[in-house]
Amino acid sequence: MATTVFSKLSKIFFLFAIYCALDPFKHSSISKYPDFQTFKIDMPPLSSLPKERDHENLLQNSEIKFLNEVQGPESIAFDPLGRGPYTGVADGRILFWDGTRWTDFAYTSNNRSELCDTKSSLLAYLKNEHICGRPLGLRFHKRTGDLYVADAYFGIMKVGPEGGLATSLTTEGDGVPLRFTNDLDVDDEGNVYFTDSSSVFQRRNFMHLIVSGEDTGRVLKYNPETKETTTLLRNLQFPNGLSLGKDGSFFIFCEGSIGRLRKYWLKGEKAGTSEVVALLHGFPDNIRTNKDGDFWVAVHCHRNIFTHVMAHHPNVRKFFLKLPITVKFQYLLQVGGWPHAVAVKYSKDGKVLKVLEDKQGKVVKAVSEIEEKDGKLWMGSVLMSFIAVYDLP
Ligand SMILES: *[C@@H]1O[C@H](CO)[C@@H](O)[C@H](O)[C@H]1NC(C)=O
Repeated sequence: MATTVFSKLSKIFFLFAIYCALDPFKHSSISKYPDFQTFKIDMPPLSSLPKERDHENLLQNSEIKFLNEVQGPESIAFDPLGRGPYTGVADGRILFWDGTRWTDFAYTSNNRSELCDTKSSLLAYLKNEHICGRPLGLRFHKRTGDLYVADAYFGIMKVGPEGGLATSLTTEGDGVPLRFTNDLDVDDEGNVYFTDSSSVFQRRNFMHLIVSGEDTGRVLKYNPETKETTTLLRNLQFPNGLSLGKDGSFFIFCEGSIGRLRKYWLKGEKAGTSEVVALLHGFPDNIRTNKDGDFWVAVHCHRNIFTHVMAHHPNVRKFFLKLPITVKFQYLLQVGGWPHAVAVKYSKDGKVLKVLEDKQGKVVKAVSEIEEKDGKLWMGSVLMSFIAVYDLP
């Protein structure tokens, strides 16, 4: 045990040393935020994390689809007729696979220009996201066929089945502007439940948000009758994925920094209250419900001793952020070592039902969302330029 931890740490530091040597002057500066602060993250002890692992690395059996045709496909959705997938990509477009090719379906920015057509690295898109838009969570309304979009910069939007420019539903909640709208779900009446990951940091400064551990994240509700947006929960550290339960009596969302699933009751005697239902293996992203009412949670990496120490020592995190290394390497350091995808299926009560991994990150390095459809898992990621498809046995 001690030796494996040691070898992991030495691997990290070895790579770190090489990276510093090769790439010393690309500062991920914190000077933009003179008041930048880091906070303790109350991460549960490693011993309490789920024990279930996938020692067969089953995710390595995934098929890589659409390689280099989609950049950073975070969320994946199929319309009520089963067509798709639809996905939001790094340049701000929402694309539709019509069975033979990708077409532009919709977009969220009314101010797109050649700026949005950068064809370089995934990280290069970050620079213009606030102009081009960045569609994250996507959901179809089953009856109307409208597509609901959580755009990281433009808030909650909606676009009809014919696509085009999405219209804004809300950009604030209780008077506080949405800063990093992340994921959403919509019920039959058109109520939208969604997460705003931070009131301070935008997505293009996600590294600051991760390092900071600040708690201005919220879970909100948009009511289509009153057109009002209200805050259901506040003071959350990086809330991320959100999904309604099959019967609509609750939703479950991820608390990113701490790494756990929380259930919020909408109906019944516990309505308006919430409870922690599960701890997660690592740093979570989106959640999607399958036809049985179970939840697939996308997790980046496993927590290890290193991430644990970082969580409890805000000053160490701040020190690392000041190091002259690229965002890419910051991410490895701060999120937890070697990138590898973990897909975990939870019951509605938070029991682990299945774990699928690619520990070496050989095929699926990262995963942002897992959408189950007809016995297949469709996996997108903001860090990949393909969609991975896994056949369930
Ligand atoms: C529109 O985009 C241009 C860059 O292409 C930017 O300079 C300008 O501020 C944007 N306008 C608005 C209203 O966002």
